[in-house]
Amino acid sequence: MKFEINDLDDFNLEGKTVLCRVDMNQPVNRETDSLNSTHRIEACAPTLKEISDKGAKLVVLCHQGSDIEYKNFYCTRPHAKVLTELLGKEVRWIDDVCGPYAQEQIKNLKNGEIILMDNVRYMSEEMTLFENKLGLSQEEQAETYLVRKLAPLADLYVCDAFAAAHRNQPSLCGFEHKLPSAMGRLFEKEYVVISELMSNPARPCTFVLGGAKIADAFIMMDTVLGNGTADKVVTGGLAGQVVLAAKGINIGKSNLDFIDKKGFTEYIDVAKKHLEKYGDKIIAPVDVAYVEGDKRIVVDLDNIPDDKDVVDIGDKTIENFVDVIMNSQTVFANGPMGVFEEAVSETGSKAIYEAMAETSAHTVVGGGDSVTAAKKYNITDKLGYVCTGGGALIRFLTGDELPVVSALRYATKTFGNDK
Ligand code: 3PG
Repeated sequence: MKFEINDLDDFNLEGKTVLCRVDMNQPVNRETDSLNSTHRIEACAPTLKEISDKGAKLVVLCHQGSDIEYKNFYCTRPHAKVLTELLGKEVRWIDDVCGPYAQEQIKNLKNGEIILMDNVRYMSEEMTLFENKLGLSQEEQAETYLVRKLAPLADLYVCDAFAAAHRNQPSLCGFEHKLPSAMGRLFEKEYVVISELMSNPARPCTFVLGGAKIADAFIMMDTVLGNGTADKVVTGGLAGQVVLAAKGINIGKSNLDFIDKKGFTEYIDVAKKHLEKYGDKIIAPVDVAYVEGDKRIVVDLDNIPDDKDVVDIGDKTIENFVDVIMNSQTVFANGPMGVFEEAVSETGSKAIYEAMAETSAHTVVGGGDSVTAAKKYNITDKLGYVCTGGGALIRFLTGDELPVVSALRYATKTFGNDK
C-alpha cells in the first residue's frame, strides 16, 4: 500500500463483483462510430486484464466527453470494441448505465467476465455542470442514483481514472463511501511518477503551458513559482495570449472576444498579479502567427490585426522557448502552442514538442492534446513520461489533494482490505 490507499494487491479478487472506474475519454469520430486515439484505453487495459484474469466479475464505468464542451459527448460503444481487441476477450457493451437492464447484467456476470456500461455522464448527477453548480459533498454523492443502484451489487470499487481524479463526481468519489476500495495500476503509476517529479525536480525546472483549458493553468503557475518547484513558466496557446494582454499588449479584438466568450477575461487580471509577483520567470511570446488563405503570417506584438485569430506562436518565440527547454534539466509540458491540428498552424507546437524530444532534460507531458501532439510528432518514446491526465495533473501540481485521492483514503481507513 502506498499513499495510505489500498491497491490491487490488498484484495482477493476471485468471485468478487468489482466496479472499476476508468478514464477512456478520447476524441470521437461520430461518422464512423470510432475513436481518433486509444492512448487512454491502452493505458488502463492492464488493470482491467488483471482484475478479470484474477477471476472477478468486472463492471467497467467511464465517461466520454465533457458536458461543458459537448463536442465529444458520446456513447461508450467504440470503447468496448477497442477493449475487446486489447484484452483478447469480449468486453460486452451495455446500452444502459445503472437502470434495471444494467443491474440484471451485473447480477448475471460469471467469474472473469467483463461488461462496459454506457457513458456515466448520461446521468445528470455525474455531469461537470452539476458538480460545478451544486458541489455535493462526497457523503452526498454516495446517495446519488448511480451509487445507490450499483454499490449494493458490488464487493469492491477500483478507481483507475487518474485523468479524472480532479473531478468530484459520484462515479469517482461516491462509491468509496459505500464499498472497500482500491486504486488501479495506472492510477498508482501516475501518482508515483508525478509525486516524485514534484518532490525534487532537477534544476532548472521549466513548465511549458499552452492549450485552451487555462483556468487551472493560472492557479498552477502561482503554486509552482510560489513554492519554487518551477524556475520558469513558458506560456503559449491561449495562456500566452492572456499573459500578453496582462502585459498591456493589444492582442486584437478578435482574440479578446474569444477570451471573453470562453469566460477567461478575469484571468487577464490574475496574470497581471502573477507578473507583478514573478516578473521574468513567466516567459511570454515575443511574436505570434495568424493564417491568411493557406499562409502562416508572423507578426510582432505591436502589429496584431484586430480581425485575425492568433493560431500559433511566432518564429522568434519558437527560438526563445526552444532555448529555455534545451537549457533545462526538468521540463513539464501541458497543452499545444496553438491550433496544431492544422498543418498551417502547427509550426510552434511541432518545434516545441521536438525540442522536448531532443533535450537531455527529464520530460513529462500530460493531457489529451499534449499526448496527441506527442504522437503526431512521433516523439512519445523519447519523453520521460506521458501522463494520461491533463486537468488532473494540473490540479495535482497546484498542491491541492485530488478529490479521488481523499475518497480512496477515506475508504481505505473506513473499510480496510482483505490482508
Ligand atoms: C480529461 O479529458 O481531462 C478527463 O477525461 C476529464 O474530462 P473532463 O475535463 O471533461 O472532466
